[in-house]
Amino acid sequence: MNSTTFIREYDIESINVTLTFHQKLEGEVSCVVWDAAIVLAKYLEVMYQKNKEFLKEKFVLELGSGLGCAGLVAACLGAEVVLSDLPEAIPLLQYNVDENQTLLTTKTSVCVRALSWGDKIDFKKVPDKIILADCIYYKESIDPLIKTLLDYSNSFTEIILAQELRDSEKQKNNWEYFLNEMNKNFVQVSVPKVDQHQDFCCDEIKVLKFYKK
Ligand SMILES: C[S@@+](CC[C@H](N)C(=O)[O-])C[C@H]1O[C@@H](n2cnc3c(N)ncnc32)[C@H](O)[C@@H]1O
Repeated sequence: MNSTTFIREYDIESINVTLTFHQKLEGEVSCVVWDAAIVLAKYLEVMYQKNKEFLKEKFVLELGSGLGCAGLVAACLGAEVVLSDLPEAIPLLQYNVDENQTLLTTKTSVCVRALSWGDKIDFKKVPDKIILADCIYYKESIDPLIKTLLDYSNSFTEIILAQELRDSEKQKNNWEYFLNEMNKNFVQVSVPKVDQHQDFCCDEIKVLKFYKK
C-alpha cells in the first residue's frame, strides 16, 4: 500500500494475536476502522472468554465490513467468516484480509464478497451470526439493509450490531426509523455495558442483538 495509508493495530488479548489494519487518509467511509467495530469486536472477545464455543465453526456474515475488523476477530476466534461490502470497498478489504492471513488458524476461513444491501448473492448455508458495525447512517440504505437481514437470517440466526449514535437530527431519525422497522420482524435485545468489554464500551455506542420473530 502507498504512503497515504496508516496503520491501526488491534490486539486480541485472549489469544495473543495482533491484527494490522491499513487505513486510508482520504476516501470513503469504508477506509478506516470505526469505533463501533472495535466495540463489537471486543464484545465478541468477551463472549469467547465466557464460552470458547461461541464462534467455533460458526458461519458468520459481516455486512458493511469496511476493513473487516469485527469479522477478522470472529475468524481468529474460530468462525468461518464472509466479509462483505460495496464493490468499490472490496480491494482495500481484500488487501487487509491478505495482510492478516497468516494470523488466521488453518481451521478458519475468511472470504470477501461484494454485497450491496438489498441485493442477493448465494451462500452455501444460513449464517449462524450476522454482525455489523456502524452501518446505519443514511436513510436510503435502511430498507435495503433490513431486507438483507431478513433474506439471510432464520429464527436461529443471531444478529449482533454495534452502532454509534450521533447527535444530528438526521442521524437520530435514521436510528429511530431503523429500530421501528426492525421491530416489525425481529425481537430486539439490548446488550448492557456491564456485559460488554469493560475498557471498550461507551454510552454513545449501542450493542444490540436481533432475532427473527
Ligand atoms: C461507517 S462504515 C463502517 C465500516 C466498518 N463496519 C467499521 O465499523 O469499521 C459503513 C460501511 O457500510 C458500507 N455500506 C454503506 N452502504 C452500503 C450498502 N448499500 N451496501 C453494502 N455496504 C454498504 C460502507 O461501504 C462502509 O464500509
